[in-house]
Amino acid sequence: MEDSFDSDLTHETLIHDLNNVFETITESAELLSADRHWKPLAATLCRCVERGKRLLGAIPDSTPNLADVIDHAVQSVTDYSVATRKPRIRFVRQFPADLRLPGSAKDWERVFVNLFMNAAQIMSKPGRIEIAAERVGDSLALTVSDNGPGIPVDILPRVFRPNVSTKANRSGRSGLGLHIVASIVKKYSGRVSAANREPAAGAVFTILLPGT
Ligand SMILES: Nc1ncnc2c1ncn2[C@@H]1O[C@H](COP(=O)(O)OP(=O)(O)O)[C@@H](O)[C@H]1O
Ligand SMILES: [Mg+2]
Repeated sequence: MEDSFDSDLTHETLIHDLNNVFETITESAELLSADRHWKPLAATLCRCVERGKRLLGAIPDSTPNLADVIDHAVQSVTDYSVATRKPRIRFVRQFPADLRLPGSAKDWERVFVNLFMNAAQIMSKPGRIEIAAERVGDSLALTVSDNGPGIPVDILPRVFRPNVSTKANRSGRSGLGLHIVASIVKKYSGRVSAANREPAAGAVFTILLPGT
């Protein structure tokens, strides 16, 4: 019998193996959901699996509509806040329901989850995140602002660089969220900037997308 195989460790094979992981989680969630008490947690697990599949590209990507992207991101971050017992965040949407974004929904979900997650992680009491969209010349300006403590001024100028973080993470994977945001925005020829709100506290992230 042939004993040498071509190595085929492609993205497709990773999807295959992770689908097995997802199946175990989904089946466990199914078992949990039989008990009324655990039903909400089972639903959270199923949504996490769906998000994992979207991230991996294991289910077809869709044309991004800002409202749908924000709904997915809000759900993910709310699930995180509930599961980790973080203070709840109220999301305020100030944009038209039919606003389309360029490219892939998966990319934009990553952008907004990373921005919301940072605010969710830093809030020590219930807070607010506002998402707004407006036209600025021939560009679309998307802003995400929160009412947390703001970005520490010593890291503000380099906050989009990889490995810049105020969090201690045992896996050594801190400081990539905003770098991912900047990379995705750049892929769509846009620019992203960070600032602190004045005089009120809180961070503001602005994404400028030309020709959108
Ligand atoms: N909304 C925010 N409010 C305050 N600080 C923030 C906010 N978003 C990001 N930061 C700061 O920027 C740093 C880098 O964020 P990020 O690139 O997502 O990496 P990580 O979350 O792993 O630290 C954070 O550690 C935090 O200090
Ligand atoms: Mg982060």
